[in-house]
Amino acid sequence: VRFIEREVLKILRESRGYVSGTDIAAALGISRALVNRIVGKLKSLGFVIEAHPRRGYALLEIDDLSRAPEYAPRTPTIEYRIHYIERCTSTQDVAEDLARAQAPEGTVIVAEEMSCGRGRLGRKWFAPRGGLWFTIILRPGAIERLHLLSLAAGVAVAEALNEMYSVSAGLKWPNDVVVGGKKLCGILVEAKAEADRVLYVLLGIGINVNNDIPPELRDQAIALREVLGRNVPRVELLRGVLISFAKWYSALKGRRYRDIVDAWKRHSATLGKRVRARLVTGEVVEGIAIDVDGYGRLVMRGDDGSLRYIDAGDIEHLG
Ligand code: BTN
Repeated sequence: VRFIEREVLKILRESRGYVSGTDIAAALGISRALVNRIVGKLKSLGFVIEAHPRRGYALLEIDDLSRAPEYAPRTPTIEYRIHYIERCTSTQDVAEDLARAQAPEGTVIVAEEMSCGRGRLGRKWFAPRGGLWFTIILRPGAIERLHLLSLAAGVAVAEALNEMYSVSAGLKWPNDVVVGGKKLCGILVEAKAEADRVLYVLLGIGINVNNDIPPELRDQAIALREVLGRNVPRVELLRGVLISFAKWYSALKGRRYRDIVDAWKRHSATLGKRVRARLVTGEVVEGIAIDVDGYGRLVMRGDDGSLRYIDAGDIEHLG
């Protein structure tokens, strides 16, 4: 957000209750109308701000996820409905049951903690209390570039973090959100498809927010709380990510693939680096990450000059 928006946010945060538009305007030397516009902008980013005709504005910093269902954001592309569960094996499992039972697109399952959180490539995902662990059910019907969906989700998270908290989060191909080389967020896309159509997609997003990172993961992972030096209200962050994702999902449905890839590249922490890729076949290749193509594939130039297009697997940044 711009400087003036950050200043308004700071006043709202510090006032811990209502503060009048007139006081905010006076403190910053701007007009009441501008305060009003800025509050509108902040709300559109996900912040929960209440307006009262006499008392003014109050920023609600809600960390209690059981209240998330009341604060599902309204967006033009996805009608979100949030379900909260205190504990489950994985939000992907709960979402799968709901999807089979015809839950509509936009159904979101958020859990305080998961006992068997799933990561990409069969890995386990550590999901203690204090983090933000959720799955969105999507029903895109036919979708020719499913791979771009996972990139779009990464862009949505990086963008929400940048705009709401001025965190310069980068994207490590395909969709890890990293800060200073450490992982802040992981994304898992699971889909149920028939030969010619996708029945549903389970988009799982896990963000380390106020949770502890266990000692053995501290060199690879980081929580938002450490980056910002304070706890972050998870309801506003969830809203921010859902709003941003709806925008990128609409780009995907509108086949604006270039926009997604360009946005991904703007946030990239991978391009230009030397990387080692482990393909799903087990093969390992090294080279320079030079591009991401219109399908979301990572283009690598090997040491012999040959180009490789990586469409699945995992990479390691080598420097
Ligand atoms: C990865 O980086 O390996 C992907 C991690 C995905 C974690 C999220 S948390 C919400 C959803 N439920 C899960 O069990 N996993 C995803």
